[in-house]
Amino acid sequence: MSEQVDIPVLEVSGVRKAFGDHVALDGVDFRVGESEVVAILGPSGSGKSTLVRCVDLLEPIDGGAMYLDGRLLGHESHNGHLRPMSDADIQRQRRRMGMVFQQFNLFPHWSVLRNVTEAPIKVHGVPAAQARKQALELLDRVGLADKASAHPRQLSGGQQQRVAIARAVAANPRILLFDEPTSSLDPELVDEVLQVIKDLATTGMTMIVVTHELAFARNVADRCVFMAEGRVVEDRPAEEFFTSPRSTRLKTFLTRTAPPVSAEQ
Ligand SMILES: Nc1ncnc2c1ncn2[C@@H]1O[C@H](COP(=O)(O)OP(=O)(O)OP(=O)(O)O)[C@@H](O)[C@H]1O
Ligand SMILES: [Mg+2]
Repeated sequence: MSEQVDIPVLEVSGVRKAFGDHVALDGVDFRVGESEVVAILGPSGSGKSTLVRCVDLLEPIDGGAMYLDGRLLGHESHNGHLRPMSDADIQRQRRRMGMVFQQFNLFPHWSVLRNVTEAPIKVHGVPAAQARKQALELLDRVGLADKASAHPRQLSGGQQQRVAIARAVAANPRILLFDEPTSSLDPELVDEVLQVIKDLATTGMTMIVVTHELAFARNVADRCVFMAEGRVVEDRPAEEFFTSPRSTRLKTFLTRTAPPVSAEQ
């Protein structure tokens, strides 16, 4: 019987990143398997955004290696050494990943529909009619079928973020990366966006979600990764992460960040 080799969708191995003297990532290791949802939590400045930006090849790493489906990301192996890829190859690899930012980053002068169809048509060569059909299905899925011809400024923050998610999914990525997708939203708009991400999880989309929403991480993520000072401190199945944190740092973080038992006015 042949043995099944289990290659993760994403592997991050010993990744280091410094900004001048400041070490933002100090040897980060973790893996994301097929259809897994991994939440990344940690205090401000712990390197969460830097990590997803490095994975998305928006920032070059200084050490270590990253692999998407077992293939080096951002680097190529040359005579036993790693060397950075050309910009064109980096752009090609970036197309296999989708990123959703805190600030949506929609194109303001384009309709919602065009925001969603642009990359499939221009970058991935999908025929316009097919891209449009798929975009309308995705907009329906995120509850915005009636907003296809609206412009981003006519939408609420939560609606804009749902368009940004539809746009990322439309490019058919191997993995979706979210960097605090609800942090710039008014509290009453947070749930509609989290619900869309939860729905995507049920479709088997592989995802990394940097978030401060602990209840969401606990309910939706398969694993939670806790970062502090540029390192992974704990990487555990979601329920265990919350019920039996091992490190003092995670215990303190959970105590400080957990919602109060009763809200005092
Ligand atoms: N472009 C940059 N230039 C210089 N320093 C940077 C840059 N980006 C991040 N840093 C520094 O690297 C460290 C990690 O930042 P990062 O944004 O990854 O933290 P974070 O965990 O995402 O925090 P937050 O929860 O506030 O978003 C911080 O000390 C930050 O000041
Ligand atoms: Mg951040």
